[in-house]
Amino acid sequence: MDKLFYKDFKSNIFRGLKLIRALNLDPNAAVGPIRVEIAASSACNYRCWFCASHSYLYPDRIEPLFLSDELMRSLFNDLKKLHVTELLFSGNGEPLLSKAMIREIKQNGKKFLIEILSNGGNLSAVDEELFRNLQYLTISLNSGNGKSHQITHGYKGENQFPGIVNNIERLLNISGANKKIKLNYVITAENYEEIDDLIKMAAKWDVIFSARPVKADDQALRGKTLDRQMLENLDKKATQYLAGSNLSGRLSLSLQLIKRACQINYQDSVKSTKLYPCYVGFFDPYITSNGDVLICVSGQEHPFGNLNEESFQSIWQKRQNLAFRIMATQMHKTNQMAFSACRNCVNVQYHSLAFHNIYSKIPVLPGLLENRSRKLDSNITDKKGA
Ligand SMILES: C[S@@+](CC[C@H](N)C(=O)[O-])C[C@H]1O[C@@H](n2cnc3c(N)ncnc32)[C@H](O)[C@@H]1O
Ligand code: SF4
Repeated sequence: MDKLFYKDFKSNIFRGLKLIRALNLDPNAAVGPIRVEIAASSACNYRCWFCASHSYLYPDRIEPLFLSDELMRSLFNDLKKLHVTELLFSGNGEPLLSKAMIREIKQNGKKFLIEILSNGGNLSAVDEELFRNLQYLTISLNSGNGKSHQITHGYKGENQFPGIVNNIERLLNISGANKKIKLNYVITAENYEEIDDLIKMAAKWDVIFSARPVKADDQALRGKTLDRQMLENLDKKATQYLAGSNLSGRLSLSLQLIKRACQINYQDSVKSTKLYPCYVGFFDPYITSNGDVLICVSGQEHPFGNLNEESFQSIWQKRQNLAFRIMATQMHKTNQMAFSACRNCVNVQYHSLAFHNIYSKIPVLPGLLENRSRKLDSNITDKKGA
């Protein structure tokens, strides 16, 4: 088995074990989720046409919100107390515009495995001190040679692609940086032809890249998506590269990711009417830039609480929030959606289901979870009725 695949496989097994521990049945235990995704800011310096929050195809701009210094500090403290190990800074804005995030990662980032997903436009804010405290810095390049960079990202003035490339090369001078830097590429009809340049650049830098077809659910965003023929061509292109000799482990993994992403997109269009067991509340809850704590990125319908009013630890340990998280793990049995986005959620089919297929075969534990769900549910119903 290739070394990188083995590492990926091993870390998924480890995560699976941590998830079993996170599914603890004691609401007072200091056991938080495996990872927390944090939107440090909803502000952005770009207006990518495919972005649900900032697209230049939308007439209105969203309000630029930032998590404050104090909130970020107390959040890091609570996450540490709950033994959370992984943090992802992404969300619906550009994380590197948040001074509070940068300051906190520099001061306390060593205690976590941190990934920042950035558009690269403000990469000059990443100095060695910040970079040292990151596990990954993923840059959404979305262009292989710069031709499509401006049109995709919707900004005026000079083309920023060369500056981003220079900044990446500056960081690559730091020892081991190629293991931390990853490239992200949303494939659209406009940048589809630049994929070969992306592959060459990633091979030259020996970094991993993840390229996946754009998703455009909103009618206003359609028209620049990939058709089936383009997806098939991409899949073939990745297969041809994979057949070549002397591929590095990182390049080979990235090409496999393209193939997987092309397949996910095919199945994406087949809307499922089934409900699946969802464990996301235990492995990937989401904090929005206004401080709301959600079960996942789609959970706005049912916020668990807000960090401007209560600490993360207190929100996390509330009985009704635990009940809601466990309720989502039972959707396949109860046929009750946690909230409306659950019905067609693609993530549940690719993440939770893989875990569930193993977890459901472990003796005793799934039964305990089901019982706990019933008990917490009836406690909450009793209190509401009282
Ligand atoms: C919303 S952005 C926030 C982080 C940062 N501003 C960035 O662009 O990387 C998070 C990720 O979602 C991706 N994304 C946004 N809209 C998308 C879409 N319609 N289809 C696929 N990926 C999308 C972005 O490329 C980025 O990788
Ligand atoms: S850079 Fe990220 S947040 Fe900004 S518009 Fe593009 S996808 Fe949206």
